[in-house]
Parts: sequence; structure tokens; C-alpha cells
Amino acid sequence: MRIPFIAGNWKMFKTKKEAKEFAEEFRTLYKDTDVRTAICAPFTQLDTLKEAFAGTSIGVGAQNVHFEDEGAFTGEISLPMLKEIGVDYCVIGHSERRQYFNETDETVNLKLKKLLNESDIVPILCVGENLEQREAGSEKEIVEGQIRADLAGISADKVASMVIAYEPIWAIGTGKTATPEQAGEMCAVIRGIIEELYDEDTCDRVIIQYGGSVKPENATEIMNMDEIDGALVGGASLIPQKFMDIINF
Ligand code: G3P
Repeated sequence: MRIPFIAGNWKMFKTKKEAKEFAEEFRTLYKDTDVRTAICAPFTQLDTLKEAFAGTSIGVGAQNVHFEDEGAFTGEISLPMLKEIGVDYCVIGHSERRQYFNETDETVNLKLKKLLNESDIVPILCVGENLEQREAGSEKEIVEGQIRADLAGISADKVASMVIAYEPIWAIGTGKTATPEQAGEMCAVIRGIIEELYDEDTCDRVIIQYGGSVKPENATEIMNMDEIDGALVGGASLIPQKFMDIINF
């Protein structure tokens, strides 16, 4: 039985001060539940959030990591830097990084291997199709291609420890959520690809989230889909009560 996992992705929002204010309010709302919870925040807030959530089961995640430990990579953050903070999760391959920052399946694969082979930080791998691909009916082909390339050379046991987030690009930040049926279907497709690439045990263990305009109003119907184990929440995770309402789906 997979434990539900709901993570917030703050993207490029909140200062350290605002992150501290969020954490103080969220801690008054949060009651230990059987829903695994995390906030994936900008690098500048990670130590603030680790300190603020100390003593709770609320995890803290980064939104990217470089695949080298150090070097002439201006603006990047390394795995040793994240490990020093005590980060629990790391989003990899978000569509916004693929779109704006030249993230490719090849660099995603290198980053996943770095995290899985050299840390206990749990990767949250993002995959998903754009509107043109959805309208062309090629969403399954696109997502399968991403999964196969992103997981190339990664062992079954490592994949079983990961999280995969299906995020249709046309539903991100648009308020246009995939229907529960669309989300469930694609999460089932991803699970089927994992079973084909690996085995039944790996397929049963990997956590598969849906992301794309998840709100308190639609969280219950999405989370009630058998194929969906959790959510990766953008805008609604910035507001303590809204994020708590989603966790309490
Ligand atoms: O990573 C989650 C994010 O892409 C979804 O954003 O604002 O549509 O919930 P949002």
C-alpha cells in the first residue's frame, strides 16, 4: 500500500521572511496525518524551512540540482550543498526547467543518477505533454519517451524509491486541471511503463503524483483515483490553509 504524498512546489515565490511566515502559520494547521507532506522551495529558503519544520514530519525539497559536485556552472547548486542543508526531496525535470533552462532528458538522467547514487534525497521526476501533443493524441508516446530516457541505466530498486509526477503542461498554472480520469489514465500509463521496463514490485512501489492546477476544490476527486498516489501542487501550496485543505483531501 503506497502512502499518499502531497508536495508543494513554490517555484520562484517567497522570500526567506515570507517562507518563515508561511511555516509558522502552516505549523498551526498541520496535524500529523498519514499523508506524506513536503514543500519544495527556492534554494535561499531551504535552511529556513528545515529549521521551521524541525520536529515535524514535513519534508523540505529543492527544485533542481546540478549533476557535478562543483565547477564553472554559474548560478547552479550542487548535491553537496543540498546534503549540507539536509534536504529531503528534489524536483527534477520540471517542465518549466525543460522549457526555459535547457533541461533535457539527458541532463535529467544525469541528475537522477547523481541523487540516487550519492544521496538519500528522493527525486521527484516531472514528465508530461504540452497542449499540441495532447490535442494530437500523442501524450502516451511523449510521456513514455520521457520515462524511458530519464530512467535509462537506473536500477529497479532506485526507481522504486523515487516519485514520478505526471504534469500535463497545459494544466500547469492555467487553472485548467486534467480531469480525474485523464490524470488517472496517464498515471496508470506511467505505472505500466515502469512495470514493462522493470518488474511488478518496482511498479507497485514507485509513487506517482499528478500535478497541474490542483486545488482544494478538486483534490478529493483527483486523490480518489486509484492510480494516483499524490499531488505536486504549485499555486495552491503558497497559501497555508489551501495547502492544508489539499492534504486533508
Ligand atoms: O510542479 C507543480 C506545478 O507545476 C503545478 O502548478 O500552479 O498548476 O498547481 P499549479
